[in-house]
Amino acid sequence: MKVKVCTKEKMDEEIANLFIDTVKANPKCVLGFATGSSPLGVYNNLIKAYNNNEVSFKDVTSFNLDEYVGLDENNEQSYRYFMNHNLFDHIDINKENTHVPCGVGDYEAKAQEYDNEIASAGGIDLQILGIGSDGHIAFNEPGTPFDSLTHVADLKESTIQDNSRFFNSIEEVPTKAVTMGLASIMKAKKIVLIATGLNKAKAIKGLILDLIDVKLPCSILRKHPDVTIYVDKDAYSKVLGK
Ligand code: F6R
Repeated sequence: MKVKVCTKEKMDEEIANLFIDTVKANPKCVLGFATGSSPLGVYNNLIKAYNNNEVSFKDVTSFNLDEYVGLDENNEQSYRYFMNHNLFDHIDINKENTHVPCGVGDYEAKAQEYDNEIASAGGIDLQILGIGSDGHIAFNEPGTPFDSLTHVADLKESTIQDNSRFFNSIEEVPTKAVTMGLASIMKAKKIVLIATGLNKAKAIKGLILDLIDVKLPCSILRKHPDVTIYVDKDAYSKVLGK
């Protein structure tokens, strides 16, 4: 696992370049996207590169990590809406080739198909991740088995609290989500994780220094052969004992 300590601006640029290089090397590649605030700068850079004719996403397939249960694509808080609004509507990706887990209707049955869909597309070439203050990746909360595939998960109180900043009130935050499992994420060929701010410092310290344990879901990443963790000084501060 590589760790890069740098500014948010620098990581947004480097990670966007990784995505662009991946698409240029294989225009039919499979990209793994995340939502939340962490990847927004990267997505803005991808949009800029597309507008400057540096890259085309027309043959790319994508898979997102997760979706809230109970929110459909027209709901502004849904992750499908987020991806359309913050990336897909601004580049030439074919929306039919973009996949976000389904959070409504027969979402449980669809969740069970998600890993097969990823495998049929050839597997994820490059996956971007954020990290929760409790060490979750996607919505795999502490205690999630390392061999988990895409499933329906209950969100922990701390995650509901963290994510309430995007909603009008905490009561509106869904309590369940469909999420790729830890084993699903580990199948990606290359993984980059972004963490900024003091709120992430404890999880980053655990990821870098503690034992690999289901109590800290992100710690499974230490077993992956190609992971780079991008952290700013604040997120890295507890590693240095500050
Ligand atoms: C979102 C996701 C979550 C977030 C995490 C950090 O698709 O999978 O694990 O990455 O909750 O969220 P932010 O980036 O908003 O701090």
